[in-house]
Amino acid sequence: LVAHLYIHIPFCKSKCGYCDFFSVPIHKLITDDYINALVSEISLRYSQDKVATIYFGGGTPSLLTEQQTEKILSKINYDKETEITMECNPNSINKEKLKNLKNIGINRISIGIQTFNQKLLNTIGRKNTNNKQIETIQHCLQIFENTSIDLMHSLPEQSLLELEKDIKMIPREVKHISYYELTLEKNTLLFKKLHSRCDKAEDLDILFYEYVTKLLQQNNFNRYEISNYCKHGYECKHNQAYWNYDDYLGIGAGAVSTIQGERIENIKNIENYIMQENALVKYQLTEKEIYNERLLMQLRTTKGSVLDKHLEKYLEKYPDYLQAKDNRVFLTKKGMQLYNTIVVEMML
Ligand SMILES: C[S@@+](CC[C@H](N)C(=O)[O-])C[C@H]1O[C@@H](n2cnc3c(N)ncnc32)[C@H](O)[C@@H]1O
Ligand code: SF4
Repeated sequence: LVAHLYIHIPFCKSKCGYCDFFSVPIHKLITDDYINALVSEISLRYSQDKVATIYFGGGTPSLLTEQQTEKILSKINYDKETEITMECNPNSINKEKLKNLKNIGINRISIGIQTFNQKLLNTIGRKNTNNKQIETIQHCLQIFENTSIDLMHSLPEQSLLELEKDIKMIPREVKHISYYELTLEKNTLLFKKLHSRCDKAEDLDILFYEYVTKLLQQNNFNRYEISNYCKHGYECKHNQAYWNYDDYLGIGAGAVSTIQGERIENIKNIENYIMQENALVKYQLTEKEIYNERLLMQLRTTKGSVLDKHLEKYLEKYPDYLQAKDNRVFLTKKGMQLYNTIVVEMML
């Protein structure tokens, strides 16, 4: 039984300077060829189990027309309890479209903002105006009860004061925030632009994390995963499934699935995907890989992982960084800042 469905839309209006996600720039509408390929992959690989979550991710899913979205959804078995998220970029959404998406069944919107600072938007190569961003959030809040926004911190030359200004700009009706630390990915324009100072100051990043967590907490956003915060009861169910290492089916070019220990990767090439040529690579994960992946995912969250003999050793070694409760082990606030170092050491 697969309860979680991910649909990848690998198109964007333009490529942002920092982004290494699999997506290609397009200047016109997403072709029906791609939608037809998605629909046929759904009928081939999805067993019609009722799903608990559907996530349109990208790329920029808000480039889909309402008709295209509806066509994809019509192939999926879901009900009104199903969490159906669409990632939206302010550059491809308006009030009318948001209303239509709600009528079709989308019930959660995640808007890519990154920062409310126009100068920083320009620096990171994000082609949005801040006025349009604010307008989009307002429209979303008028239509969707469950609205999330993506922000980034540790941006080039961002000060703590600027970070604070960004946080103050978040409307209080927003229910969920993904606040990522900027990763300078090697293949990006931003990396090239900043290549002379690509060693980021880690101490400062920790300070940013602490600041974000503190300020959001003051506004009733609880940190439930390293980079995710929400008001009570608004955790993203779809992402929680990833972090809990539940099975999920990924549809679309570049999408990945994990089902009963098998990893399935879709080809990262749109033409080949549409032609269904060598589209899937499958391999069985070993017991050790599964253990390690599960640990990596679960320790990202405040729920943590099941406490076992192997993990008990680390609990004794790192009392400041790890804690146990109800037979689960999780990172403390301090431990979360050192996630990479500690969790790598805990792997088998
Ligand atoms: C697929 S995008 C979201 C939807 C849409 N494409 C957009 O950008 O508006 C997912 C999110 O990943 C984050 N992201 C992308 N590249 C990143 C990077 N190099 N470092 C940190 N976060 C990044 C951004 O916050 C982005 O909004
Ligand atoms: S951040 Fe979003 S809009 Fe920008 S290139 Fe990446 S996927 Fe596309």
